[in-house]
Amino acid sequence: MIIEQIKELLQQVENIKAANAEELEAIRIKYLSKKGIISSLMNDFRNVPAEQKREVGMFINQLKEKTQSKINELKEVFENTQVSDNEIDLTRTAYPIELGTRHPLSLVKKEICDIFGRLGFSIAEGPEVEDDWHVFSSLNFAEDHPARDMQDTFFIQHGPDVLLRTHTSSVQSRVMEKQQPPIRIICPGRVYRNEAISYRAHCFFHQVEALYVDKNVSFTDLKQALLYFAKEMFGPETKIRLRPSYFPFTEPSAEMDISCDLCGGKGCAFCKHTGWVEILGCGMVDPNVLDNCGIDSKVYTGFALGMGIERITNLKYRVKDLRMFSENDIRFLKEFESAN
Ligand code: DAH
Repeated sequence: MIIEQIKELLQQVENIKAANAEELEAIRIKYLSKKGIISSLMNDFRNVPAEQKREVGMFINQLKEKTQSKINELKEVFENTQVSDNEIDLTRTAYPIELGTRHPLSLVKKEICDIFGRLGFSIAEGPEVEDDWHVFSSLNFAEDHPARDMQDTFFIQHGPDVLLRTHTSSVQSRVMEKQQPPIRIICPGRVYRNEAISYRAHCFFHQVEALYVDKNVSFTDLKQALLYFAKEMFGPETKIRLRPSYFPFTEPSAEMDISCDLCGGKGCAFCKHTGWVEILGCGMVDPNVLDNCGIDSKVYTGFALGMGIERITNLKYRVKDLRMFSENDIRFLKEFESAN
């Protein structure tokens, strides 16, 4: 009995015709939906006597496959049917055009470069794949300095002297080798360190380096440039403070803090209750570095400073997880639409 019914259905399916996509959808629902014909056959299947189950099962499967392929076949016909010329509206936009937004790190990088641009600094760039001389030796790093260790630096297979730069200070030495003072450059770029990735560390990040070399450049000039930068970047109320520090390529060296703009310097969780947050390293270019790069340290002096773009971006926009910057999550990037 049920077999007869299925044979008839097979015949019906063979002759399915549809004038348009809607009709076809109605047919699909009639046969293949949860409450459709084939589903109800499946229900009846339970009552088929055991010795007929094999044969009936085969017929049901055949019907199901045939219906599906017939519907797919017709669907393709509708999808490939071209709209005739006079139905095309030539005044319509081709598709909704989504405007992209600038990446937050690009926004902040540009802002930093613009501020230094107003002080007469011009942009200089260097390679990310570097050599030991430009990243370490020319910058006065001792032979056994821990930064040269495999643990901190990515070396490239080609040999011991090919590595990914760990800071943008390498651009300093490249420019000084090629150019005599006055030099006033700002160098943005990506840097790499062998760090475990977490919400506060990544194996690549971005830095901006600034270098000013000329006759009579003094620590006062450095301090003035830093104060100008801090006020332009974080607002006119911003205060700065310098703490003595050490970098191989500067002497004396300092780290700069700015007053915490969350609590106005009173102390909060963000600034660890100190009222200050650290933002960059700086100092007077070590005479050895000038000499290494072919600049006479008896005639010229200079200052340098370097900062992480992620850090400045976090301070400005309070991004809590560094990984957000490299995940390309559109929802995150869209939040910076208005800042563009
Ligand atoms: N290169 C340093 C770093 O990656 C940052 C830095 C500190 C750059 C002091 C400088 C400087 O130019 O004077 O941590």
